[in-house]
Amino acid sequence: MQPDRNGSKFEKQHKEKMEYTNYDFGLVGLGVMGRNFILNVADNNFKAFGYDLDQEKVDALKEEGGNLEKVCASTDIKVFVKALTSPRKIMLLVPAGKIVDQAIDSLLPYLDKGDIIIDGGNSFFTDTDRREAYLKEKGIHFFGSGVSGGAEGARKGPSIMPGGDKEAYAHVKPIFEAVSAKYKGEPCVAYLGPKSAGNYVKMVHNGIEYAMMQLTSEIYDLLKKSCDLSNDELHQVYDSWNKGRLQSFLVEITAEIFTQKDELTSADLVDMILDKAKQKGTGKWTSQNAMDLGIPVPTIDMAVSMREISALKDERVQADILYTRPEVAHIAKEELVTQAEHALYFSFIIAYAQGLHQLMYASKEYGYDLDMSTIAKIWRAGCIIRAGLLADIAEAYTTDNSIPNLLLSPSFVPKVQGTLPAVREVVAFAAKNGIPVPGLSSALSYFDAYTSTKLPLNLIQAQRDHFGSHTYERTDREGIFHTEWGK
Ligand code: 6PG
Repeated sequence: MQPDRNGSKFEKQHKEKMEYTNYDFGLVGLGVMGRNFILNVADNNFKAFGYDLDQEKVDALKEEGGNLEKVCASTDIKVFVKALTSPRKIMLLVPAGKIVDQAIDSLLPYLDKGDIIIDGGNSFFTDTDRREAYLKEKGIHFFGSGVSGGAEGARKGPSIMPGGDKEAYAHVKPIFEAVSAKYKGEPCVAYLGPKSAGNYVKMVHNGIEYAMMQLTSEIYDLLKKSCDLSNDELHQVYDSWNKGRLQSFLVEITAEIFTQKDELTSADLVDMILDKAKQKGTGKWTSQNAMDLGIPVPTIDMAVSMREISALKDERVQADILYTRPEVAHIAKEELVTQAEHALYFSFIIAYAQGLHQLMYASKEYGYDLDMSTIAKIWRAGCIIRAGLLADIAEAYTTDNSIPNLLLSPSFVPKVQGTLPAVREVVAFAAKNGIPVPGLSSALSYFDAYTSTKLPLNLIQAQRDHFGSHTYERTDREGIFHTEWGK
């Protein structure tokens, strides 16, 4: 049925009841994500009402929803707000930034105390804190709630990461639990903590996502350059990995990517895509905030840097002409594929370890009181970083929720230990042959440093004290010391 520009057929049929009432859930922003999310809500037997300024989007949703009693929408904010049951539960799925503030301000005149606004976008966590405080003064509850899983996840079941007022969450809980992805029947959503806890956890989720994507692409480069694997063979490799301990959404879609043909040239599409990666900022925020907290996440940092290096295509082309690089030695396919599997498994563990380490410290710093096993559990399905490994991570934190770093979990020691000879081989091979593997080598160096009782940073302390009288501590006695060096 085609939408009718002068008011859809549905609109006309229901003209007599423009006074829509009794809808359980409201959604602002009917782009792809918003439309998919609201249809998911309606599929789960909650009556849902959408709002968007764009009449076409409103009509499209009503057509797709099929039954206005279940899912309806309007371009009129008063109709929208009036349609919702109290306390109103209104989710915003609009681009992060000023538009979120504008959406909140446009709703405010029509809301009542106790109503709930949920920001489902990738807002920066300090913006969420500001908005929460602003709305609290007005008696409105505000939830910064990460939603992961892309458009398909929104439709079929995303992982949802809400943070805000705990009591108010009770009103949202049944809806979120129904629409979220399920892992063996368990909903991939949980109340995470006060204030911006939800947005913060989603931000770090994205940092881990950046690292895993970088690592997956480095291994692709290595296999392609040193074994001349065709895209068909790469498909088979990633596909078989996805059936083993590397089972994950990102490995699964990588396998699929290698089979996609380009409609324009009928070549393999992956070979036609320019090697400049874009970013919206969540990975960078993760790195920046990790620096503020003083928690190292070098593999995430490197993933952000690599997107930046990738963007410098013209400079890379010039530099490539200036320097020679070694001829890549060809090694036996089977051997490299086996080693690469170890390397990817190891570095995925490191990516999760770094992100979770950051969450552990952020929890203390910002008073989120995060429960690490809960976070790992709600990432097991629905989200972009979902992976078989997360079941092991959830188990490790269920056993001991206070481990500061996954590498300290006894259950992870044998998992990591077994990969190390292969990881070292792969990193050394890549370095010798001029294949950039900054994510993988940063993961290995991070591991080697984090697991070293002794690091050479005593020398740095000596240098600091030498040129700046910055003082140092000693290994043999308590206190702060300074030396007049060279005297
Ligand atoms: C998700 C994703 C999503 C993110 C995209 C794009 O969990 O569904 O993290 O929220 O916006 O992955 O991110 P970049 O454009 O920064 O790569």
